[in-house]
Amino acid sequence: MKSILQTNFSGIESLVMKEVKKPEVTPDGILIRMTTLPVVPSDWKREYNSNATAELADNLPRTIGIGGVGLVVGVGANQDHKLLNQRVLVMHPQGSYSEYILTTERQFIFPLPSSISDEQAAALTAGPGTALLLSHIINDSDADNIVVTGANSVIGLFLLQQLKHSQKRILPIVSPVSQSYFNKYQKKASYQVDNLPQLNGSSLIFDLAGSTELLLELRKQLPTSPITSIVITKNSEIMDLTFVHEEFDADNYRKFIQQVADGELIVPLDRSFTFDHVKEAQYYAKESHSRGRVLITLNKEETIYD
Ligand SMILES: NC(=O)c1ccc[n+]([C@@H]2O[C@H](COP(=O)([O-])OP(=O)(O)OC[C@H]3O[C@@H](n4cnc5c(N)ncnc54)[C@H](OP(=O)(O)O)[C@@H]3O)[C@@H](O)[C@H]2O)c1
Repeated sequence: MKSILQTNFSGIESLVMKEVKKPEVTPDGILIRMTTLPVVPSDWKREYNSNATAELADNLPRTIGIGGVGLVVGVGANQDHKLLNQRVLVMHPQGSYSEYILTTERQFIFPLPSSISDEQAAALTAGPGTALLLSHIINDSDADNIVVTGANSVIGLFLLQQLKHSQKRILPIVSPVSQSYFNKYQKKASYQVDNLPQLNGSSLIFDLAGSTELLLELRKQLPTSPITSIVITKNSEIMDLTFVHEEFDADNYRKFIQQVADGELIVPLDRSFTFDHVKEAQYYAKESHSRGRVLITLNKEETIYD
């Protein structure tokens, strides 16, 4: 079977598609034939940066990817046999960019109802879970104003949906080039740093964009507002900055799947590339403005979503 491997830290260009041995079902294993893989920023960040995760440097070559959607085609004797022939979302941080993956982690497998597509489900990886973490911090705070950078990002659009009943004043920061895209999903007004209105009361800044320059500009307007970032771990130029990271909770993913199936959670999708175009897909996602999640398909034609 084919796998996409990272062999060094020189970035996207060095990814290789390799023929590797297809895994065999073990007594504790669940074998999944993958159909749809998300292209997420952590994929290419790890390809350029040996410090992106603590364990990474010692573990090359590695199969890239952290999850995706597929069909269960084999279930070991000690596993849940009801999974056989089910379409599932699977979290697999050990590497998901393979035609088949074998996992023993039943709790990371989510059967999908027929009303959620492979594409919608795949885009739940590295998206609404992080947004939910931020929405809890926001709801638990006593701040009056919530300023969100990168509000048109995939995570930003999930976050704004999760905050739709919030009483706080939400101020999305969106660059001019992304505003009409943002308004396809959100009727809410959006701002740039230089046209933020006068804010009364206390404010918190939530950073989804990861631009130091943008945060330093914002700081001039909101000098005492703490910043919570999901991108910047630390930066000596930015005071009062806290990095937060999603802690995986399987119950949340069951809820997201149901919310999408019920039409309560909209998943922003951009376009898909085929498995032999993974590099192109990563360059596209990295270098374009965010217009929804980019995906890899292993069983369909390349598609541009509406
Ligand atoms: N901490 C965690 O648990 C966690 C989990 C998952 C992801 N993440 C991180 O969260 C970030 C967002 O992920 P995503 O998948 O939602 O990304 P995405 O859809 O690609 O969106 C990136 C956003 O950043 C904005 N942006 C990038 N550079 C900018 C700049 N210089 N100035 C202003 N805006 C800029 C983009 O604006 P335009 O579209 O207008 O260019 C876009 O809104 C990524 O960095 C990802 O690695 C963190």
